[in-house]
Amino acid sequence: MKKKTIIAALLAAVMSVSVVAGCSSGTQSAASVLDGQPAPMPANHNGRYTDLGPDGCYGCHGANEKANPQLVGAVIVPEDHYSRGMYATMKIDAGYNQCITCHPQG
Ligand code: HEC
Ligand code: HEC
Repeated sequence: MKKKTIIAALLAAVMSVSVVAGCSSGTQSAASVLDGQPAPMPANHNGRYTDLGPDGCYGCHGANEKANPQLVGAVIVPEDHYSRGMYATMKIDAGYNQCITCHPQG
C-alpha cells in the first residue's frame, strides 16, 4: 500500500513537470513580441486600417500631450516607431506609417 502511494506521488510529480514544460513552450510561441515579431491586429480591428488609416491607429495607440497611449487600455506603440525614435515628436516615422504591412489582421 505504501509503495503504491509513493509510485503515485512520483507519477504525479513527473506529470506536473511535463505539464509545466508544455505550458512554458506554449507561452514562448504566443509572446511573439519577445522575439521582435510584430503582433497581429486583434479580430475586433477588422477593417480599421482601410477605414481609418494610420491616423486612426494613432488616435488610440499614439501619444499626445496628455497621454501615451491616448486610449486607456490600448497597447503603447514602441518608441522606435516614432519620428527620430522619440515619443516627444508625437509623429510616426514615415517608415512605420503602413501599419498593416507589419501588423496583419489576425
Ligand atoms: C478605437 C481604438 C483603437 C483603434 C482605432 C485601433 N486600435 Fe489597436 N488596439 C486597441 C485596443 C484597446 C487594443 C487592446 C486589446 C484588444 O482590443 O484586443 C488594441 C490592440 C492592438 C494590437 C495588438 C497588440 C498586442 O500586443 O496584442 C495591435 C497590433 C494593434 N492594436 C494595432 C492597431 C493598428 C495597426 C490600428 C490601425 C489600423 C489600430 N490598432 C487601431 C484600440 C485601438
Ligand atoms: C516595419 C514594420 C512595422 C510597421 C510598419 C509598424 N510596426 Fe508596430 N511593431 C513592429 C515590431 C517589429 C514590433 C515589436 C517590436 C518592437 O519594435 O518593440 C511592433 C510593435 C508594435 C506595438 C506594440 C505591440 C505589443 O504587443 O507590445 C504597437 C501597438 C504597434 N507596433 C503599433 C503600430 C502602429 C499603430 C503602426 C502604424 C502607425 C505600426 N505599428 C507600424 C513593426 C512595425
